Amino acid sequence: MSEKPWAGRFTQPTDKFVEEFTASIGFDKRLYRYDIEGSIAHARMLAKQGIVSADEAEQIVAGLLSILTDIEAGNFEFKVALEDIHMNIEARLIERIGPVGGKLHTARSRNDQVALDIRLYLRDEIGEILAWLDRLQQALLTQAEANLDTVMPGYTHLQTAQPVLFAHHLLAYYEMFQRDAGRLADCQRRFNLSPLGAGALAGTTFPIDREFVAEQLGFAGVTRNSLDSVSDRDFALEFCSASAIVMIHLSRLAEELILWSSADFAFIDLSDAFCTGSSIMPQKKNPDVPELVRGKSGRVIGNLVALLTLMKSLPLAYNKDMQEDKEPLFDTIDTVKGSLKIFADMIAEMRVRQENMRRAAARGFSTATDVADYLVRQGIPFRQAHEIVGKTVRYCLEQGKDIPELSLEEFRQFSAAIGDDIYQYVTLDASVNARTATGGTAREAVAREIARARGEQSRK
Ligand code: ARG
Repeated sequence: MSEKPWAGRFTQPTDKFVEEFTASIGFDKRLYRYDIEGSIAHARMLAKQGIVSADEAEQIVAGLLSILTDIEAGNFEFKVALEDIHMNIEARLIERIGPVGGKLHTARSRNDQVALDIRLYLRDEIGEILAWLDRLQQALLTQAEANLDTVMPGYTHLQTAQPVLFAHHLLAYYEMFQRDAGRLADCQRRFNLSPLGAGALAGTTFPIDREFVAEQLGFAGVTRNSLDSVSDRDFALEFCSASAIVMIHLSRLAEELILWSSADFAFIDLSDAFCTGSSIMPQKKNPDVPELVRGKSGRVIGNLVALLTLMKSLPLAYNKDMQEDKEPLFDTIDTVKGSLKIFADMIAEMRVRQENMRRAAARGFSTATDVADYLVRQGIPFRQAHEIVGKTVRYCLEQGKDIPELSLEEFRQFSAAIGDDIYQYVTLDASVNARTATGGTAREAVAREIARARGEQSRK
């Protein structure tokens, strides 16, 4: 006799290769804990509703708990012939407690079961990802606090633009990760509804209590349409898209860390623990960790595209195609979690070469805009001021001088509106500290944002 629970209708055994090809146990076994948790809640509901007896439910629950212990102890043989985690556990249950185990699947289908399992699993995993995001944000804030006096060149087009505080630059990433956390929490909140009770697609003929199951499992409520309940994977799409954005943000930070740790920038040193050497060039210290995270952003984006393509044009309700949702989803979870964890530690241990940053900020006429703003305050239209400063910069280039090094006479060749108070405006610190409005790079504005962010974190 076949061990397959659905063998009744069949006269021939499944082809061996087909069996392997269609099985998901190789990857969905990671859902075991949630599958058992969901089954326990379902069994208790069946008893409460008089669909099975209290004694039967107790045998089922005890059997499931003993299977959980076995799996965690590594004493469980997952069988490809039993296709997936749901049938592996159910078959084992029947083996262990006898035919009464066969009552567990009353009023349920693997279609609503798998929809439930993924939700329970993803809900927990998002919780962990949020905790890692939080750790990374804390590391960014700590570095920002330590670098409230570190001036660096701010760039547009990767050309020196205006000086900014390094703390300000780090806070830009803090903001990105704050929005990422918001997107993930929002996604988690939206899918926190129990799909169990949808059955295969149409609901069930048994007098179940879906709300009771939902309550036991910590859901905020139940889904409202059985067809939608078994065919919805929006939550996985939302999660994968929010995760792709997290990875994009990490890849931008990764790129900057790679540039900054090169000899040409020399703005930071990554801890040796996050770098490797070269087998041929003895001087090399390669920023492998940020490079790998930058590279891994590609697979997370790929996972999102795979899932979108998987769901596109699928007719209602369940289709076996949907078994393909798991690997991209699992890989996204693993990759995002690992990347956040490693970045949190790497940022915390990063050494900042403040003098080099300041020296670089002084190059490239980064305070030219401040001269133009000065002229505007003397009543000169901005366009004209721009032209005057453009000529001043050209003169500096010819003379090999920087703007603050010009004498007053030299300045006044370009505009008589320039007085000797110009020197108060063209230093790096003056330029930075003049930008005091909310969101600007002035020390006081950045300090305010750090304090606000610390408050935001402590309220989490
Ligand atoms: N392993 C399946 C999956 O992950 C479970 C649901 C199977 N349902 C079915 N009708 N074959 O999608």
